[in-house]
Amino acid sequence: MPLTVPFDVRTMKDRIHAANRKRWDAAARRWAEGADSRGYWKRCPQEPELVLCAKELEYLGDISGKRVCVLGSGDNQVVFALAGLGAAVTSVDISQNQLDIAAQRSKTLGLGVSFVRADVTNLSRLADASFDVVYTGGHVAVWVADLAGYYSEAARILRPNGLYIVNEYHPFRRIWQESGDSMIVEFGYLKRGPFEYDLSDDILRGEAGPLKSYEFHWTVADYLNATLRAGCRLLLVDEYGEEVCDWEGAPMHGLPEFLLIIARKNVESTNPCDKI
Ligand SMILES: C[S@@+](CC[C@H](N)C(=O)[O-])C[C@H]1O[C@@H](n2cnc3c(N)ncnc32)[C@H](O)[C@@H]1O
Repeated sequence: MPLTVPFDVRTMKDRIHAANRKRWDAAARRWAEGADSRGYWKRCPQEPELVLCAKELEYLGDISGKRVCVLGSGDNQVVFALAGLGAAVTSVDISQNQLDIAAQRSKTLGLGVSFVRADVTNLSRLADASFDVVYTGGHVAVWVADLAGYYSEAARILRPNGLYIVNEYHPFRRIWQESGDSMIVEFGYLKRGPFEYDLSDDILRGEAGPLKSYEFHWTVADYLNATLRAGCRLLLVDEYGEEVCDWEGAPMHGLPEFLLIIARKNVESTNPCDKI
């Protein structure tokens, strides 16, 4: 059972992100073994549909030669798929160990990806309006204390009218207790956290250990409002997927797996939420 920690984003974000970074650095080797057992990273440059859904591929269209940034790139499967589609991809992650493994894999695949170590809430190493597409998701926001700051940095590096794609694990799946064959609510849907865990570096097993890990449970409304407040307009919101994996710990059949948001950065700098 995790602790819920009293939280002030201004004073605690850096400490929380530093702890999560340390855990991801420690966990990178096991995460890479997980990706090896799936084997997708080797295939996704030729088979992007393994890691990008039909709607993502439709909205991306022909991205050959386009500048694409992936935030919280992790196993970099999406990065390799986008590079395989011909984009010039920049892969951003807070963990140097994750990036080192990805850089080695990118070399093995013969892809020319750029790697940047940065916190998604501070992308000062990347210039304003320097990307045609920004992609993020696949369990990234759960580690981030400031969703609004994260998405506003994503929009800042995007050119006007550039495409913003968020594809996150669906918030409805985050509230359940690990209970085997029954559904017991452990976290109120509106409780964002942070939830504090003491875990080992074996991220695939989730065993107790000496590493602090902090998680946030953002709601559907949080994702949509952060996208709008960052100065983007919505093109598509979708909830899809029905698979339930062993690691999920509860029989979540019937709940959507993914929340997909596809948006474009507004050309004018008005914030639609000002009027709400
Ligand atoms: C579960 S992975 C998500 C990426 C991919 N879907 C995957 O499964 O590997 C989470 C990644 O987010 C990164 N991350 C966590 N907090 C971050 C932050 N504040 N800024 C940038 N990256 C962060 C971690 O280092 C990790 O590589």
